[in-house]
Amino acid sequence: MEKPKFYLTTPIYYPSDNLHIGHAYCTVATDALARYKRSMGYDVRFLTGTDEHGMKIERKAKEMGLTPQQYVDGIVSGIRKLWALMDISYDDFIRTTEPRHEQAVQKIFKQLYDQGDIYKSDYEGWYCTPCESFWTERQLKDRMCPDCGRPVEFAREESYFFKLSKYADRLIEHIRQNPEFIQPQSRTNEMLQNFLLPGLEDLCVSRTSFNWGIPVSFDEKHVVYVWIDALSNYITALGYGSDDDSFFKKYWPADLHIVGKEIVRFHTIIWPIMLMALGLPLPKQVFGHGWLVLDGGKMSKSKGNVVDPVVLCERYGVDAIRYFLLREMPFGSDGNFSNEALLTRINSDLANDLGNLLSRTVAMIEKYFGGEIQAPGERTEMEDKLIALVEALPARMDEVMGQMQFSTALAEIWRVVGECNRYIDQTQPWVLGRSDEGKARLASVLYTLAECARMIAVLISPFMPGTPARIFEQLGVKDEGLQSFDSVRRFGGIRPGTRVKKGEALFPRIDIVKELEAIAPKPAQEAQTRPEKAENAAEKAGTQAKSEITIDEFFKTELKVAQILSAEAVKGSDKLLKIGLKVGTEERTVVSGIAKSYAPESLLGRKVILVANLKPAKLRGIESSGMLLCASEGEKLSLLTVAEDIADGAEVS
Ligand code: ME8
Repeated sequence: MEKPKFYLTTPIYYPSDNLHIGHAYCTVATDALARYKRSMGYDVRFLTGTDEHGMKIERKAKEMGLTPQQYVDGIVSGIRKLWALMDISYDDFIRTTEPRHEQAVQKIFKQLYDQGDIYKSDYEGWYCTPCESFWTERQLKDRMCPDCGRPVEFAREESYFFKLSKYADRLIEHIRQNPEFIQPQSRTNEMLQNFLLPGLEDLCVSRTSFNWGIPVSFDEKHVVYVWIDALSNYITALGYGSDDDSFFKKYWPADLHIVGKEIVRFHTIIWPIMLMALGLPLPKQVFGHGWLVLDGGKMSKSKGNVVDPVVLCERYGVDAIRYFLLREMPFGSDGNFSNEALLTRINSDLANDLGNLLSRTVAMIEKYFGGEIQAPGERTEMEDKLIALVEALPARMDEVMGQMQFSTALAEIWRVVGECNRYIDQTQPWVLGRSDEGKARLASVLYTLAECARMIAVLISPFMPGTPARIFEQLGVKDEGLQSFDSVRRFGGIRPGTRVKKGEALFPRIDIVKELEAIAPKPAQEAQTRPEKAENAAEKAGTQAKSEITIDEFFKTELKVAQILSAEAVKGSDKLLKIGLKVGTEERTVVSGIAKSYAPESLLGRKVILVANLKPAKLRGIESSGMLLCASEGEKLSLLTVAEDIADGAEVS
């Protein structure tokens, strides 16, 4: 019999050199579901990729002295490495700069134009570059972008428009007829109330203000609007519009698009209308998950409060991070990330509960039965209860995984882990081991524990793909049949006579206090540069006569012209600004103690003098690479600047 298909996708990511743990959250969740569906016998196709066009990328590449393609190539290879590190089992990775995508997008655009759904007109409005979104005057919030709160620019250009309005009623009808289309349910209401029912305006779908995009094939000064480009990835990756569309025929419509809550609007309004206009079926479901937040605010590259998934995985192991992400909060809601919460989960759930269950079970089988799992005797009520619980898990998982409730699935598995540990305490194997009669009973107890541990190992495999093999190894389970989901519907798979072997702790316990100290930014390091404590040193130095130096000594200091690209206040400090700089082809971040003298936005574009070879130091957790030269008069600081026509990167001597 042919397997049922299941096509699921993550959003395609903007290439950013610091993908944070929030990005990993979405991909890890999608991966867990993909793995689960595969174990349930589905023919899964799991797509992820990168969204590589747009003005932002064009600007960024230019600032770095690279072509946009060179810029994205470097970053995309980093993203692929991150997904490999995090055991992401995608079947296809699409880049919007690939010919297979670009050609198909051009065809889609042309078809919509030919059939009259796209037309040419003039556009006037406010454009938010970071969000790549146009806004009307009315939509602005305090004259800023209503989505991200950043400044917008006025833009007027000849543009192509997509007739969203023509399809609005059909979409409203579809959403009403298919309550599962937008999940969680609250997001359906949001889309209807806030966007669809008030009426849709036609969407501007081309740009002439930048080049880094897919050209409109019949009017090459226009490039296709990034969201039309990006959303199409879900079908271009399947070969839609190419010579070989067999995957498209097999897998479309998507069973599930998993996306963050802020892009639900694009996926449930623009995307379905594009598909309707193309005469294609709509995805079965769009699930909008919540954000992982840091101290209550959205984690974002621009805020600088990034938690690096590579560092976390290297420090605590991929499975511990995956477990935390999926366990800590319900998938539809926001959840807070903190190092303390992560370490607490690792210790309590992984080291104590799961780790101890396995190590105690294996150690006791070694101690009392020479490492051999014995045939169980008669069951008592205690075993009946425990076995009923573990046997109920697969059906329960089916139910909650269907609703994307990963945290509930893990909570239920861990309830059984907890029951197993309690079963050890109740049966007291160390007492049973003292007598022959007790040992007969102990054989049953240890069989039950070993089999439960095996079943748990199978059940956690979608979430923590690396851990089951380590459990099977210690339990001596080599048979692949016993490692599959089919084998956990009934208790009793593990064979008496199997030899266990104690191995390393699955998840070593962490000394939380020490670890938090180790990963916190070091005040000692902070003192190294001028802004924080070194400020005192600088002040002192300023008032003291200094000894003579030679010209060679002076030239040890590398001074360069740098242009300020970004500036923002450092949380928790009234003196520090985090400043993004461009120094020729290089970008730097410097933390500078000038917040009392300069508002961040007043600094943008200024050309300043950077001490470029100062040893980097961490300030409030931010790595500062260099120092900006400032004249000071008491509290008053004045940045040294150069004329605009001196290029950044130029030497100062
Ligand atoms: O939006 N917590 O790309 P993107 C949870 N290219 N999820 C987060 C998050 C956080 N702190 N930060 C980001 C784009 N994400 C477009 C998509 S799809 C056709 C085009 C999620 O790189 C975010 O919600 O900005 C989104 O779903 C995904 O990461 C990619 O974000």
